[in-house]
Amino acid sequence: MCGIIGYTGKKNAAPILVEGLKKLEYRGYDSFGIATADGAISVIKKEGRISNHAGNAGTLKGTRGIGHTRWATHGIPNDKNAHPHTDCTNRIALVHNGIIENYAELKRELIKRGHVFRSDTDTEAIVHLVEEEYAKQHDLPEAVRAAVSRLKGSYALLVLASDEETIVAARMASPLVLGIGDAETFIASDITPMLEYTERVIFLDDGDIAAVTRDDVSIYHNCERVERPVELIDWSVEDGKKGGFAHYMVKEIYEQPQVFYNTIRGTDDASLPDYYRMKDPITIVACGSSYHAGMVFKYLLEECCQVPARLDYASEFRYYPSPASGLVIGITQSGETADTLVALRLAKAHNCHTLAITNVLGSTVTRLADTTFYMRAGPEISVAATKSFIAQLAVLMQIINKFCGNNHSDTLLDAHTAIEEVLLMDISETVALCENARSIFYVGRGPFYPVALEGALKMKEISYIHAEGYAAGELKHGPFALLSDKTPVIALCMPGETYDVMISNIKEMKARGSPVIAIGRNGDTNLPEICDVFIPLPGANIFTQILTATVVLQLIAYHTAETLGRDIDRPRNLAKSVTVE
Ligand code: F6R
Repeated sequence: MCGIIGYTGKKNAAPILVEGLKKLEYRGYDSFGIATADGAISVIKKEGRISNHAGNAGTLKGTRGIGHTRWATHGIPNDKNAHPHTDCTNRIALVHNGIIENYAELKRELIKRGHVFRSDTDTEAIVHLVEEEYAKQHDLPEAVRAAVSRLKGSYALLVLASDEETIVAARMASPLVLGIGDAETFIASDITPMLEYTERVIFLDDGDIAAVTRDDVSIYHNCERVERPVELIDWSVEDGKKGGFAHYMVKEIYEQPQVFYNTIRGTDDASLPDYYRMKDPITIVACGSSYHAGMVFKYLLEECCQVPARLDYASEFRYYPSPASGLVIGITQSGETADTLVALRLAKAHNCHTLAITNVLGSTVTRLADTTFYMRAGPEISVAATKSFIAQLAVLMQIINKFCGNNHSDTLLDAHTAIEEVLLMDISETVALCENARSIFYVGRGPFYPVALEGALKMKEISYIHAEGYAAGELKHGPFALLSDKTPVIALCMPGETYDVMISNIKEMKARGSPVIAIGRNGDTNLPEICDVFIPLPGANIFTQILTATVVLQLIAYHTAETLGRDIDRPRNLAKSVTVE
């Protein structure tokens, strides 16, 4: 978590850093700060969000600078713990994304040698280490190299010195990308802050140290000068804007038909690792929404292809015996989720073939996995995953399609039209039942169980209403005690083998006083009779039913949160990219 940015060029750095940090806020937003160099180092840093109150941060002078938006790990969110941190001489400033595991030991050592600490962060130890090394050799890249050789943990960091033209960047297990402009260079946690200035980027590798001036970039790895390829990015500036929508989340929900279609087209000729054909064991690892996408995949794989799969939370993978062979699929929108990366590393160490499904070009997972399939979702700014989830489903459904000899190609190429229909639905009756709820249960069976989990996750993260996804048959094994007229149930009840038992479950829930909102197939005549609200979905096959049900649940969460006046794009306590284990 945390977003970092650096700029060096001919323009004033501060306004560019402020705007860039606003785009990185999805990575954390409990405090922010920027530092510029204009003869001396000037720093402005504050608790709170830069998008709410940048104050005079944009007025700092200087054509080079660094900035940070924070998701606190060490030290509470306040002004003094906000980055940048400066050394004892105030000639060096540093921003950091990651965690330094041995900071306490380093801090003790540095204090003994006379350094004065002004924050409770792990990061501050790094700037004092750089200070010592810089005093010895007055060579900033070398000083940073020597300092980071003392660190255990993860870091993407930027170092600015008052008397150096060069900004130094270093990366280990936290993302960092350089943007090559016209007599200006950007460095950031991801490409979104640089989209309007350049499409030429360089992704740094773990262990890289880059010395960056406005006209030149020199990258070192193990003390050797190395070349990293310049890549062209195809995300547009417009992708990163709200485009007239009230929130990024609703804009991203409305982009889903296009995203699904683009991803299906974009993965049409993706070749599957041989493991698919060999039917070796398949394991899926992921977190949060990506885990739910993985669970949908597991059901479909078993149902459509009769291939069993194992699904683990990435954070739990290491606590079970690792698969001895086969394919391990890591699903991660950001490509930076620490737990998913750890799980994939472990899988590789056990000689499994690893396949990454991600949205972000050059992200860490793409460097780690043997094969990468890209989603075509474009930048997702809202913290809650919506279009990236649909894009994950697109890739996973495409894999099923390949596995079934392309039998489902036509269905998948057409599925976006059903998503379009859902976007036009009126769900106000459902929102009226949800907005005053004490708690909401989401229930489904088979592949609709993970859809229920995902719907509940969306509701709780953006509306702050407690919501639980349950396998419909499980509710009577305890949670029934919670049912009442203040506890609506959203039931996913699609035609098929689970339909009759779902109808029985719905009646049981109604009998306990819960209002029931049923989501079912258009034309169903039973559900309107027994439920308080019926939401009819288009979609004649399992793929479109999963997709349309997902989108309806996103809309219910969004409009409930909107009615409650929540901070939809930046829900409290969260960050989009969870780069700590
Ligand atoms: C929920 C959400 C999170 C992410 C999870 C994994 O809306 O966005 O649950 O799905 O943090 O993130 P990625 O996919 O980047 O690994």
